Amino acid sequence: MRTIIEPFRIKMTEPINLISKEERIEKLKKAHNNVFFLDAEDCAIDLLTDSGTGAMSAQQWAALMLGDESYAGSKSWKKFESTVRNITNFKHIFPTHQGRAAEGLLAMTRIKDGDVVPNNSHFDTTRANLEFSGAKAINLLCEDGLNTESDAPFKGNMDIKKLEQCIAKYGADKIPFGMITITNNTGGGQPVSMENIRATKEMLSAHKIPLVIDACRFAENSYFISEREEGYKGKPLIEIAQEIFSYADAATMSLKKDGLVNIGGFFVCNNNDWAEDFKNMLILREGFPTYGGLAGRDLEAISVGLMEALDLDYQKYRNATMRYLNKKLDESGVPVIKPNGGHAVFLDAKKFMKHIPSLEYPGISLINALYIEGAIRAVEIGSVMFGSFDKDGNEIASDLELVRLAFPRRVYTQSHFDYLAEVIIEVWKKRGQYKGLIITKQAKVLRHFSCHFKSK
Ligand code: F0G
Repeated sequence: MRTIIEPFRIKMTEPINLISKEERIEKLKKAHNNVFFLDAEDCAIDLLTDSGTGAMSAQQWAALMLGDESYAGSKSWKKFESTVRNITNFKHIFPTHQGRAAEGLLAMTRIKDGDVVPNNSHFDTTRANLEFSGAKAINLLCEDGLNTESDAPFKGNMDIKKLEQCIAKYGADKIPFGMITITNNTGGGQPVSMENIRATKEMLSAHKIPLVIDACRFAENSYFISEREEGYKGKPLIEIAQEIFSYADAATMSLKKDGLVNIGGFFVCNNNDWAEDFKNMLILREGFPTYGGLAGRDLEAISVGLMEALDLDYQKYRNATMRYLNKKLDESGVPVIKPNGGHAVFLDAKKFMKHIPSLEYPGISLINALYIEGAIRAVEIGSVMFGSFDKDGNEIASDLELVRLAFPRRVYTQSHFDYLAEVIIEVWKKRGQYKGLIITKQAKVLRHFSCHFKSK
């Protein structure tokens, strides 16, 4: 088979600054050993997130110029509404400035103290928003999803048996909605099968519980379905996406991912009461419902970006880059999550840094090593991001200790990927020399963004 090439050429470039190792050691010390405090210009390859970091196409930049900045009922809103409706077929469509705004307003309008919300795996902002409104956010990921070595095709699937038990345990009246996150960001960017989305819907429906899809990476998930699920080969990605949304009662979305833009989100639903409550809070917090915290030009760029994300050649190229890096690392013995995720390559820090116990944060140790050795910035998805405390204040480790290398869309080229592989393999070979850390300062919620670390 021929090499899968980038289905675009580059019109505009940004310089990459590669500071020396000595400078990096100094910078990281000043950043309290937390890469969130580093300046972006000190990171040569910035894989902190795939969110809002992508490159827009010439068509998107051109569309910006068409932005209609009218406060209410702009032409740009009409375009946004019709694109989102075409893909999702929802009755009510609301723009928000990003994903967590949609989650926050949903939680604020639908959650009561003591409620429970199951999900395959909640993303951190989803969990935080639900818990802030008084709900318990529960993860019910399938067994394969917890096994970093299994190469099952849909490791993001919900465990339907556990979902049934969850409903029986808490009672349907305590569950205002169930969620499913596609792809499953916190569990390795692994996809959810159409069959599993359908089964989740059926289980929830049997108890009259609505299903809300966290749709940030719906286009990548659609691509995986087309590649891996019986009956979907050759089906246009938009039709797969339409079928996914047909099983949902509502969806939240961060357009900073598969909207291929730098800012934006949405909430969509069919229920009139949900829409009315959401709209009222949207006006209070984000803006009038036809712009929802975005500029008219953003709505234009989103309308183009959403359709570009559903382009098969784009998804083939995107997936090929992840597969390339995953394979290269795997062949060198580096513990990676298999198969590759949709937006990121995930390293298994528990296995990578075997000598560091979970509560000394092997993921942070690995991230800091990647920065020092190669000016690469990655993010921990493990005990710092998801650790919790029991009622006596003892810290509980997360099930998985992962390091995520999240790839901005259409930004890095093949030689950047080769460089990454070289640095990671070098760190792997020297892994024994890296130490665990302790936390010296932390916030009560979303501590990973701002906590300070000290080397053991
Ligand atoms: N849901 C999922 C699955 C996400 O991955 C994110 C963001 C959100 C919701 C919130 O969206 O950032 O627009 O408010 N994930 C980014 C990340 C931040 O790096 O994975 P947002």
